Amino acid sequence: MRRKLVAGNWKMNGSLSALSELDAIGAAAMAAPGVDVAVAVPFTLIHPAAARAPGLAIGAEDVHEADAGAHTGCVSAAMVREAGAVFTIAGHSERRADQGENSHDAWAKAAAAHRHGLSVILCCGETEAERNAGRAERVVQAQIEKSVPENATADWFTLAYEPRWAIGTGRTPTLDEIAAIHAIARAKLGMMIGDAAAAVRILYGGSVVGDNAGAILATENVDGALVGGASLTAAKFVPIIQAAA
Ligand code: G3P
Repeated sequence: MRRKLVAGNWKMNGSLSALSELDAIGAAAMAAPGVDVAVAVPFTLIHPAAARAPGLAIGAEDVHEADAGAHTGCVSAAMVREAGAVFTIAGHSERRADQGENSHDAWAKAAAAHRHGLSVILCCGETEAERNAGRAERVVQAQIEKSVPENATADWFTLAYEPRWAIGTGRTPTLDEIAAIHAIARAKLGMMIGDAAAAVRILYGGSVVGDNAGAILATENVDGALVGGASLTAAKFVPIIQAAA
């Protein structure tokens, strides 16, 4: 009942010439009609990416929570939408760490994105210290409670569980650990948005590559992947799309 979603996050990588990678990624998406494929790119690449890859969902990596105004250097949901984005990421752990964003900020950004017709991939995930202290489940529950909009529904909202210690490290939780957090996340969503939670997709993110994608995507309550490094080239991203098919 939940279609798999494989989403790339280029972070602060890419260039106009790198957009050629989208050609083969788009072809792989066409060849996997049962899978939704999306790529979040830096602001400057949204418009050319959307023009080059009309078959892919192109998104932003962040938006400001305000609709417009005196916020030098920031970009609104309406702006990325006009540029061709159909979704945005909110609350990514790198923004939490680098820009000091918290779960309330993620909530506000998700709400702003929804106001302007964007879908949202909202991120949560514990640090290594939190996991070692046995607090991973409580941390994720608290993040969900503070950041998921009360009107979230599957047609525009996706949750991504990304343990911070697994991002870009080549390390991943065990499949049992992933399943445990995803089950808790779905239960928490159920407490917040009721029956609508059953249809909301919960992605796993953190060192997903072609070799581990099949097992991770087959794990209960894992409805797709949010992929960083391995989304930068078609050679690495296409096998993940194929694993989801
Ligand atoms: O948003 C995706 C992400 O943070 C995971 O990055 O490089 O570990 O796949 P990576």
